[in-house]
Amino acid sequence: MLSKFHHFQEALQKREKEGTLRILSLKSEGIDFYSNDYLGLARSKDFHETLIKSVLENPQLLSGSTGSRLISGNSTVVIEAEKYIAKEHQYEDALLFSSGYNANLALFSTLPTRHDTIIVDEQIHRSVHDACKMSHAKKLKFRHNNPEHLEEILKRQNGHCYVAIESLYSMDGDMAPLKEIALIAEKYNASLIVDEAHAFGVFGYGLIDTLQLQQQVLATVVTYGKALGTHGAAVLTNPLIKSYLINFASPFIYSTSAHDFQWMSICKGYKFLKINSEHSTGLQENIKIFRDQNLESLSSKNSPIQAIIIPDNHQLKALKETLSENGFLTYAVFSPTVKEGTERLRICLHSFNTEEEILGLTKIIRDFI
Ligand SMILES: Cc1ncc(COP(=O)(O)O)c(C=O)c1O
Repeated sequence: MLSKFHHFQEALQKREKEGTLRILSLKSEGIDFYSNDYLGLARSKDFHETLIKSVLENPQLLSGSTGSRLISGNSTVVIEAEKYIAKEHQYEDALLFSSGYNANLALFSTLPTRHDTIIVDEQIHRSVHDACKMSHAKKLKFRHNNPEHLEEILKRQNGHCYVAIESLYSMDGDMAPLKEIALIAEKYNASLIVDEAHAFGVFGYGLIDTLQLQQQVLATVVTYGKALGTHGAAVLTNPLIKSYLINFASPFIYSTSAHDFQWMSICKGYKFLKINSEHSTGLQENIKIFRDQNLESLSSKNSPIQAIIIPDNHQLKALKETLSENGFLTYAVFSPTVKEGTERLRICLHSFNTEEEILGLTKIIRDFI
């Protein structure tokens, strides 16, 4: 038994030695500079009350869905939610998933065939890489946010290409040159798919909506576990792609649908955002306070994710621990999750952080580096 799994033990010991062993711990008490709850909806009593009210009016929402949506798990709540979401984003149709991971897994494992090529930004989320492993298509990477390199690669391909990007990247906190990439994709007749997990809710309904690029994008993925403070994701697309996914996407077909509570909470989240715009204004004010402290950051100036490079796993761990001892919860991204030499402290700003908290955080970082 032991010898059979010796390599597992070795891999874990290696991580432990390098200080990168992952363990599950309970949420710590402290000032939140690490969660994706950018607008504070997950902690909003008003939002909770809205959800509780809906559940009290219709306790049935909490029932398990009882099956895949293709068997017993479909409902009017999810059908209506998809219609509502598609309309809000000015797309023809939408397909809901229980998570963003599953939405990406479905898209990239299903649409590209063995004759196609998936060209991904080198910093695309792991869910897309995992989907590519399930797909029979060839995968190529282009340099991060580099449209010229994307074009060079596209020029050399014969079959149909899918281009996968995020609009706001979760590791560097920088934005994709969306318009340029959309133009290049169009020029080479490639199909662009954009993951808006971190942009949705932070920049209105996301950057595709803000820039009105719906027509240039085959599918946009928005997720609800971050700025919306709930859970789930939608693929925004046209009826043909939706129907194809329903028919051929394993992560959609072979999984029990979420309960109606999840779909209801997503719709309530959209409505909550519409009437509570102070959350996104507050977030942008806090991002400005952080940026005004002039710490060297990789990230876009209005991004809620701010990455500070600390190019050494041990140094980074020490900084994270110092911050934690002072009550600041941040996230350290070690190599090999990111390239060696680009290890970073990842700070997530929120609408609910106070100026004093931001100044306290930045002072400790400045004193450390
Ligand atoms: C860019 C990106 N896409 C997709 C996902 C997956 O979304 P979810 O957490 O809803 O599964 C994440 C979450 O970390 C993400 O950062």
